[in-house]
Amino acid sequence: MEQRDRWATKLGLILAMAGNAIGLGNFWRFPYQLASNGGGAFMIPYFIALFFLGIPVMWIEWTTGRYGGKYGHGTLGPMFYLMARESVKPKTALIFGVIGGMLAFSVSSLLSSYYYQVIGWSAAYTYYSLTGAYFGQDTVKFFLNYVANLKAVIFFWGITMVLLGIAVGQGVSKGIERWVKVMMPLLYVFAILLVIRALTLGSPVKPEWSSIKGLEYIWTPNFTALKQNFFKISLAAAGQIFFTLSLGMGIIHNYASYLGPEDDVALSGLATVSLNEFAEVILGGSLAIPIAFAYLGPEQAIKGGVGLAYMALPNVFMHMPGGRIFGAMWFLLLWFAGFTSAIATYNYLVAMLEEDLKIDRKVGTWVVFVFLFLLGLPVALDSSLVYLSELDMWVGSYFLVLLGFFDVIVGVWLFKPDNFWEELHKGAFINVPEWFKPIIMYIAPLFMAVLLIGNTKDYYS
Ligand code: PHE
Repeated sequence: MEQRDRWATKLGLILAMAGNAIGLGNFWRFPYQLASNGGGAFMIPYFIALFFLGIPVMWIEWTTGRYGGKYGHGTLGPMFYLMARESVKPKTALIFGVIGGMLAFSVSSLLSSYYYQVIGWSAAYTYYSLTGAYFGQDTVKFFLNYVANLKAVIFFWGITMVLLGIAVGQGVSKGIERWVKVMMPLLYVFAILLVIRALTLGSPVKPEWSSIKGLEYIWTPNFTALKQNFFKISLAAAGQIFFTLSLGMGIIHNYASYLGPEDDVALSGLATVSLNEFAEVILGGSLAIPIAFAYLGPEQAIKGGVGLAYMALPNVFMHMPGGRIFGAMWFLLLWFAGFTSAIATYNYLVAMLEEDLKIDRKVGTWVVFVFLFLLGLPVALDSSLVYLSELDMWVGSYFLVLLGFFDVIVGVWLFKPDNFWEELHKGAFINVPEWFKPIIMYIAPLFMAVLLIGNTKDYYS
């Protein structure tokens, strides 16, 4: 059998995984979720979900992925089949394979259909910041005009997709790994420069407004607000953990499948979580909200919603000294973050063609290109963004948790908990303490079951 592509360097692997996880979720979704769910109230269930859900599922997905890769598979269908066979008959195992494969395929492609559009917006806004196109204009109108301008939308989305196709077409070690090695360091540098700018803004508009107040809003635990809306806030926080860590999508499994069978997963999985959380709560948390607090005041900042990044912040850049540069930097940061995540879903779909159907990678890449273009077209055509929001609600939260639930059922329970524990520790640089095992086996799946039931009930009430 032909040797599968593998990560060439440890650094490349870690940057690719960090790039996969660090995305628009960190800089666009996190701030507005935080603001719509009471700031300091949101952070409490957020950290609880990180510990009891995020870390366990991350380890399961790395372990499952490396196991599949050992047998030459990078997609969820065959992985689940192989693992389930440890305790059930091949025919039953096949059912789990089909469920996993279909879920991961649907999530990866539907997620891409709207996520790539939002990356396209960032490309456009990088350009509009540099030229100052929205300066002096009503930024809400400007945004709505932009999304209704089909030519512009398709142009910026199209460039993004072509670049994605090129990167993925070159393969894992020669393409993806090289691209992320350039983009990820730049992303961190931009984010740190912007954070310094954000936190030194002072009170440019009113003495009682400042970016530091924005930080206080995030970091003062608010138990009263949490109690009032306990279920809603907890669900949102757990959903964000899934989204930001790229869990329940199939893409962590896929990246992990390009490891060698004895490469560490325990420490690397934890490193992915840490790099992502640093980029989310420290960097992402110190940008959109604090900047909006300083220029627009607490009320407007909190009300910003989905449009915070694209409608509220341009308002700020047009009044900020050096606004064209800082604006461009912010949108390019979003573009890099989105791009290095999008590569992962793109690669997942190409891997399906390449490995499950034996289609050449180069050909597969452009087949996926056409497929994703067609799937994204209705999103591009709907300038009311209703379809996009609907997709984000369903795919971006419900389906992720559903797939995460199957991760535990198949990767831990059917594969057998002892096998899982042994596999997790193969070649591991750290020992996961024994007391964490019940968290993975019982608490994580129970937590997810509650979320799924809660979400479903929410929908019907
Ligand atoms: N973790 C990614 C993010 O935060 C999620 C994602 C990955 C979404 C790939 C789409 C495609 O943005």
